[in-house]
Amino acid sequence: MVRSEGKPRTLVHLSDLHVGRDAATDEAARALSRMLVEARVDQVLLTGDVTHRGLATELARYESIFAPLLEAGRLVAVPGNHDRMGDDAGRALMRGGRVAVTTAPGLHVVRVDSTAPHNRSLIDGHGELSIRDVADVRMALSEAPRGALTVVMLHHHVLPLPVEDLAERLATLVGLPCADELPLGEDLLGEIHGRCKLVLHGHRHVPAEFQVALRGEMPMRILNAGSSTILGRARLLAHVDGSLAWEGWLATHTVAPRSWAPAARFRAGVRAAVAVA
Ligand SMILES: [Fe+2]
Repeated sequence: MVRSEGKPRTLVHLSDLHVGRDAATDEAARALSRMLVEARVDQVLLTGDVTHRGLATELARYESIFAPLLEAGRLVAVPGNHDRMGDDAGRALMRGGRVAVTTAPGLHVVRVDSTAPHNRSLIDGHGELSIRDVADVRMALSEAPRGALTVVMLHHHVLPLPVEDLAERLATLVGLPCADELPLGEDLLGEIHGRCKLVLHGHRHVPAEFQVALRGEMPMRILNAGSSTILGRARLLAHVDGSLAWEGWLATHTVAPRSWAPAARFRAGVRAAVAVA
């Protein structure tokens, strides 16, 4: 049963928690969890980098912090490149293939694992998306019932975004792919346009937003949450019968971690609304 039958439902997008990075990050994650429980959010979608080093201990800490939401089945995640390091915590975050469907009242969510074995190395953080993955996402969206909000969630960015730090700038200058968007990102958007209303991702820690609006078809929004623990806030979307009704932000009002520069710019956030086509 996925129809919301006229009842508004709420959805929150989290990303890049990096649980285990330091004490401030873990406290920010606790604040986010408390905030989501108090707000009685219907569904939370978490787009990867749940852990900082992919350690089993970090995954256990995440599961403890978000236990009320996980135990209620109101939080689902996909792995990010950081989750593939260490003990490969990413395996536990998504089992049974690279594309999977999760449903909830009023929601049809296609989860995509955009990580790859090269993510064992921190300097090889870029994602991977195959032609088969793109076809599977299209097929999974075709199974969405009428009246459900269609969402694709994955970790890596599908469109080019500005580099965020010196390491990414240097890597790009010497031709390393670690800061690049998914090689088939635009192909994915072309395949799912008209079938999908929301594409949610993370990886880059500065929030961003795109909208694809081709004439005669429903618009598709592509949202990067940024790092929720650094920002101390998360985007809240309400939907009714498959359409977005309204949106806003939930904020924890905690002091964001300062250990990862440039924190001030992260906290300020960046909203880049770009009309494509
Ligand atoms: Fe991250």
